[in-house]
Amino acid sequence: MKIVLSVGGSMINPDGKPDVTFLREITKIIKESKHEFGILCGGGIVARAYANAARELGASEYDSDNIAIISTKQNAAILVAALLNGGVEVENKVFDNFDDAKRTGKKVVVMGGTIPGITTDTDAVLLAESMGAKRLLNLSNVDAIYDSDPRKNPKAKRFSKMTYEELISLATASDKRMAGTNFVFDLLACKLIARSKIETHFVAGKDLNGIKAAIEGKTHEGTVVK
Ligand code: UTP
Repeated sequence: MKIVLSVGGSMINPDGKPDVTFLREITKIIKESKHEFGILCGGGIVARAYANAARELGASEYDSDNIAIISTKQNAAILVAALLNGGVEVENKVFDNFDDAKRTGKKVVVMGGTIPGITTDTDAVLLAESMGAKRLLNLSNVDAIYDSDPRKNPKAKRFSKMTYEELISLATASDKRMAGTNFVFDLLACKLIARSKIETHFVAGKDLNGIKAAIEGKTHEGTVVK
């Protein structure tokens, strides 16, 4: 089965340097799995720092996004290095378009961001659509979808499962409520998983057993959307 992993920059590079332990752990999980993987890497704090610096210097949003995309590709490149040296059959490059990525015949392909104006959430879903993957895992420092921000509201309700429509209304609501702050998964990405009926699991990147369960479509501590 083909599966897409959207790996947040918060996992690959949580604090300004790559997390070698995480890179080894995710490599081991992929190596032991029988499935094929498309992996989309996020930019995290490094991408944000560069985009913000570019804006401060007067760069356009388009140019600032392009600078941030370089950080996503650097994260993708270090993951390719981890996979290759961990004995995984991976194409030794960071793909920058979906059509090339879907044609390799290798067990694993890795991408970063693609064009300004979107995020790696959307890229991950587009990669899934292009590969024909019907399952996607979002691995980040967010452990599940909640009805409000659990850091601010101790009574926030965690969803163990939800429909595409429920996810879209939550993403829409939080888009309006807090311009400039991100919902776990961007609205366009939510709409794309709905149109292609891609089963999407939100799992904490540190929850290795949860990741293994989600790869098999089983339940875990996070949220499944289908
Ligand atoms: P991310 O997808 O990592 O951004 O891309 P994010 O959602 O803000 O990050 P997380 O989920 O907290 O890690 C980083 C930045 O790269 C640019 C955007 O500026 C984005 O905010 N980007 C990324 C693009 O412009 N196009 C892409 O296809 C991907």
